Amino acid sequence: MTIKPNKAFNDLPLLPPKESLVETISILKQESKSAVALAELKGLTNTLPNPNILINVVILEEAQASSGIENVITTQDKLYQALYAKSAKPDVATKEVLRYREALLMGTLLIKEKGFLNTNGIITIQKELEENNAGLRRLPGSALVNDLTNEVIYTPPDNFYTISDLMKNLEEYLNDDHDDVSPLIKLAIQHYQFESIHPFYDGNGRTGRIINVLYLILKGLLKEPVLYLSSFIIQNKGDYYRLLQEVRTKNNWEDWILYMLKGIEQTAQSTIEQINKINLLFNETQKLVQEKLPRIYSKDLIEQLFIHPYSKIEFLVNNLGIERKAASRYLNGLEEIGILKSQQKGKEVIYINTKLYNLLKKG
Ligand SMILES: Nc1ncnc2c1ncn2[C@@H]1O[C@H](COP(=O)(O)OP(=O)(O)O)[C@@H](O)[C@H]1O
Ligand SMILES: [Mg+2]
Repeated sequence: MTIKPNKAFNDLPLLPPKESLVETISILKQESKSAVALAELKGLTNTLPNPNILINVVILEEAQASSGIENVITTQDKLYQALYAKSAKPDVATKEVLRYREALLMGTLLIKEKGFLNTNGIITIQKELEENNAGLRRLPGSALVNDLTNEVIYTPPDNFYTISDLMKNLEEYLNDDHDDVSPLIKLAIQHYQFESIHPFYDGNGRTGRIINVLYLILKGLLKEPVLYLSSFIIQNKGDYYRLLQEVRTKNNWEDWILYMLKGIEQTAQSTIEQINKINLLFNETQKLVQEKLPRIYSKDLIEQLFIHPYSKIEFLVNNLGIERKAASRYLNGLEEIGILKSQQKGKEVIYINTKLYNLLKKG
């Protein structure tokens, strides 16, 4: 018989925290600003003629930044090469970022299909990300260490049963909204709790940030995972670690929640700006092709160049139903008028939508 250890071994309190700590006036004020920005983003994505363009772009950006927070570093170029060039031999970090992308996509499908997120779902996401079956931690020894000083700053719960109970409590918190606390505030709270449970051997930071975006979809605040929230965290990484810790050491929920709410507001706004820029570039490109290459112009063709910032003959053949010869003529024509730039990669030629690429690089 297994003996379930006493709860007192674990000092991480269950959710929810006291409402008076998480619904202060500053939090409520910031919450309304964040909610407005997010609603605008949702509204804008609803009106997009082709949301796939945006979804593809933002998911890859989010994957890159969220992995970057964990020092898994790659470049946009390497990512697109790995996605689209057969001859590419992606390095370890690039592969890891692409797995993040898959895990985020998979998680989105899961949420949409089931309408809830439970511990099993979270385990499935982490498994996709880390490519292993380890599941929840069963062995002690995990500790969060300060990178610079090597000093242990936090030892998460060490016992499988405690971890399972805490996850069960988190799961209820994610799916039950009787408490009436704004979902944006709850997002910040659940992220702290998930990171503090630290339920896996590895991938907790990244899985937690995937859950953040999925949570917005779960609560109907976004339809697609198009919030580039990790860009804020990576730019304010010191505060991210410090404030996570201050919830624990100083019961400072307020600054942590404000941090996350500001992140939502700022990244909703920057994502809106990015959408507007992409739309503008799309319209300009459309006009130019209509003018200079009226015989090959179609809206579907332009969309292809934006869905895949790195394009190739095969994509046009598969997605537009044209012959290889025609596809090659189209791409070369587009290069001649300055929209694409070709690069020989192994046996194939990749065509880069240079203006889009530069726009994305700036973030
Ligand atoms: N003091 C802290 N309290 C709670 N969570 C923390 C603290 N410091 C860092 N974290 C979280 O732990 C994450 C790193 O955990 P880890 O399992 O290594 O993630 P990954 O494998 O994705 O790198 C950070 O991104 C952060 O979310
Ligand atoms: Mg790690």
